[in-house]
Amino acid sequence: MKKNIGAKLGIYPTPVVVVGTYDKSGKPNLITLAWAGICCSEPASVQISVRKDRYSHAAIVERRAFSVNVPSAKYLAEADYAGMASGRNTDKFKAANLTPARGELTDAPMALEFPISMECRLTHQLELGSHDLFVGEILACWAEEEILQSSGRPDPKKVDPLVFIPGSEYFALGNLLSPAYSAGKKLMK
Ligand SMILES: Cc1cc2nc3c(=O)[nH]c(=O)nc-3n(C[C@H](O)[C@H](O)[C@H](O)COP(=O)(O)O)c2cc1C
Repeated sequence: MKKNIGAKLGIYPTPVVVVGTYDKSGKPNLITLAWAGICCSEPASVQISVRKDRYSHAAIVERRAFSVNVPSAKYLAEADYAGMASGRNTDKFKAANLTPARGELTDAPMALEFPISMECRLTHQLELGSHDLFVGEILACWAEEEILQSSGRPDPKKVDPLVFIPGSEYFALGNLLSPAYSAGKKLMK
């Protein structure tokens, strides 16, 4: 039996990304986001949802750019911290001992220590209610060389991303179950 538990945000899990911006004065900032995901293949695009009162919100609108960084589980404390402190009154890069790397193609800083960083150019902004949805075109995806497989793709075990259960806790990535587009073949007529 299933029970209606209300209009809950019932996607389990979500990713944990840390978005980089420059504020008006050029100070780099980070914000941790769980409302984020890939939303288009061509042009390669990512969507993030940010509350208007976040310090990062104005920075994204002003610079029309942001970076999306994927932290490894070993950076759990830094990611969690960037989701609590505000760039309004803190230098989060300094406090978390992270290194801002200026984007080559966009006006946004990336976190050098995180294994994957995408440079994004703001293409759309949609007011949804509590959050504004920003879509960014991915102009470059920087990956730590040590995490790359011979295919050129990042090794998920080496990326070791955090996964998030909204409002409650972080998990690590589980075990490989099956290659994609494979397990379902037995059900195809
Ligand atoms: C795991 C996690 C996920 C979060 N997801 C979001 C999100 O998707 N959107 C959002 O606006 N804030 C989210 N937050 C809250 C912001 O990260 C937090 O308010 C942050 O301090 C804002 O930083 P800023 O004021 O420097 O922009 C999240 C926080 C955590 C810890």
